[in-house]
Amino acid sequence: MATTSAQTEASRRELLTELAREIEYHEKAYRAGAPEIPDSAFDELFEQYQELAIELEIPEEERLDRRPGSDHAEGFEEVTHAVPMLSLEKLSSARKDSKGESVSLGEQLENWVARRRQDLECGADEALQLIVEPKIDGISVSLHYDSGRLKRAVTRGDGKKGDDITRQVLQSRAAPERLKRLKGEVEIRGELYWPRPAFDSYNEGLRKAGQATIMNPRNGCAGLMKRKEPVGLESVGITSFLYQLVTPGNNKVPETQHAVLEWLAEIGAPVYLDGVTVVNDAAGALAFCEAFGERRPQPEYEIDGMVIKLDELRLYDRLSGTGHHPHWGIAYKFPPERRATTLHGITVQVGKSGKLTPVAELEPVLVAGTTVSRASLHNFVELERKDVRIGDTVWVEKAGEIIPQVVSVDLSKRPAGTVPTARPQQCPSCGAEIMSEEIFLYCPNPACPAQITERLRFFASRQAMDIDGLGAVLVVQIVDKLGISSPEQLFELSAKDLAGLERMGKKSADNVIAGLERAKGRGLARVLTSLAIRHVGTTTAEDLAGHFGTAQALLDFAARYCDGDEAAIESIAPEKGSGAIEGLARKSADVIMTELNSPGVRRVIAGLERAGVRLSQLEGQRREVEGVAGKTFVLTGTLPTLKRSDAGEKIKRAGGKVSGSVSKKTDFVVAGEEAGSKLEKAQKLGVAILDEAGLLSLLGEA
Ligand code: IVH
Repeated sequence: MATTSAQTEASRRELLTELAREIEYHEKAYRAGAPEIPDSAFDELFEQYQELAIELEIPEEERLDRRPGSDHAEGFEEVTHAVPMLSLEKLSSARKDSKGESVSLGEQLENWVARRRQDLECGADEALQLIVEPKIDGISVSLHYDSGRLKRAVTRGDGKKGDDITRQVLQSRAAPERLKRLKGEVEIRGELYWPRPAFDSYNEGLRKAGQATIMNPRNGCAGLMKRKEPVGLESVGITSFLYQLVTPGNNKVPETQHAVLEWLAEIGAPVYLDGVTVVNDAAGALAFCEAFGERRPQPEYEIDGMVIKLDELRLYDRLSGTGHHPHWGIAYKFPPERRATTLHGITVQVGKSGKLTPVAELEPVLVAGTTVSRASLHNFVELERKDVRIGDTVWVEKAGEIIPQVVSVDLSKRPAGTVPTARPQQCPSCGAEIMSEEIFLYCPNPACPAQITERLRFFASRQAMDIDGLGAVLVVQIVDKLGISSPEQLFELSAKDLAGLERMGKKSADNVIAGLERAKGRGLARVLTSLAIRHVGTTTAEDLAGHFGTAQALLDFAARYCDGDEAAIESIAPEKGSGAIEGLARKSADVIMTELNSPGVRRVIAGLERAGVRLSQLEGQRREVEGVAGKTFVLTGTLPTLKRSDAGEKIKRAGGKVSGSVSKKTDFVVAGEEAGSKLEKAQKLGVAILDEAGLLSLLGEA
């Protein structure tokens, strides 16, 4: 397909937004201990996101994996930070220069120091000392002391305002209630964290009580600090390291960060002085970081990297920063922890659209705090490239810190007699002959039991029809014992049918039926998402529902499209530019329309209609707003209250389009703080520029 580069970028950005949404959703489910997709699928999503984000040069502060995001919880008082709580810029192992060559961590750090020297107009022979400190992986906290007594503890929140967690911090004794010799009002910042041994024993207690365990200390710490009633927190063992003096009150304080840390230790604050050093240059800092990372002396401290800061505090005020990070410090992240283990077997998972994913069955091994016994091998091309064989010793690490994966084989340990892993010829679930498409293998049989189960599981999941009570375990039984094979059949189930299943009392069965009843009203967009049609994620489903309004109109259109009706094809996915569905590429439209027009999908939709499932767009999901409908918007910079994705949603719901780049066709640029080149370009092209308030008033929401 011939596309302009702008269009390609627009559709890739669309895909990125879609991926971000899915990842956020699944991360929540995973953290809540109720994952809805196999790890391998999550892993794939995450990798796709990271690759695309790097390719599209998405600035760090906008990346899903880098954003602070608000942690506000209901019932907690919000407190505005006198000085915003920012993040740190990170040295990144994936960074490329303008020619696309990768830049080593050492070079990046050299560059960073050189920029600071320039900002500060340091002469060539002037020293610029750096302090290197461990970076504790917990939750940042702002502590307010009045005459040495802890008066208030506040989370970072969105950086501008956070939640008051004073009671939780006091009850858990996570930070000192008193500090010695402190005069006046003092603000100190630091990290609350849960040492590994205390976390493990808390989890052990949960396990013994038959309760769900907590995934990792960081999330556990965040969760407990948001417990509304802090009773019981005194025994969980959450603690802190303090590292920043923000407001000195009436105290005479030292002039370097190193001396401040020593001073904090003297007045009784927990400070990790053992892991701190002062060096003269970038090379010294990097050497200390690497040596520390290799030693990882105290794993219980949950140190995930180091922070490099200018030591001289009076220089901080002379440096600017971005809305996201100050220029006086930068973070170095340790490379992910790798562990070697034995690969006992390779199983093959069949996904909802028949995609086969090889999964490594491993000798259980502790990696970055959790025991890993299975890990994704992504696809067979990848598996062959790495030449992973049963019996091999493999290196395992966690992608995005949560999802385990096999990174490579230790060939020096390969036992004699291993054989390359063969691609499956038959589906492990139904025995159908396997097909391949690009790098993936597929089971082509829509009646394959594994696919049926996965599809129904997805249909019922929260992101699709959100059927309360119909979880993964029940779906397996419904398929195996009740012979259900298609989503519309779910609505024919009675409480009596369900009550006969394992671990299903009458009450649970009634709940599932009520859940099914409620799901009937979720509207067309959800129905389209739930059908698991390739290339139809939440956003595209919403766009299709918004444009066509009813399933019938969409199906009629799909029939015309598949008959080769040029006008229909051009209207939705033209060769050039964008059609009715912003950013929908011809290739994707071909797949979507063919699948919608297939007898299988038509049968399901007809069945859903008979069951009384609403097949039209919900009122209020899309309400065209004059002045916005049909117009193209570009969002840039940080808006004061809205996340950019939310602003984009509002525009789309009002019938507008959101594009990633400014051109003559752009109608409005919505610019927030730190808006960069896009704003400049808009000014040059004379495109109308709005701030958040302007956008809201255009949307009729102000
Ligand atoms: S200095 C602008 N020092 O890492 C924030 N931060 O994104 C500067 N952290 O938000 C903070 N150990 O939560 C600093 N020794 C340390 C730290 C540290 C952990 C956290 C903190 C910060 C995040 C960096």
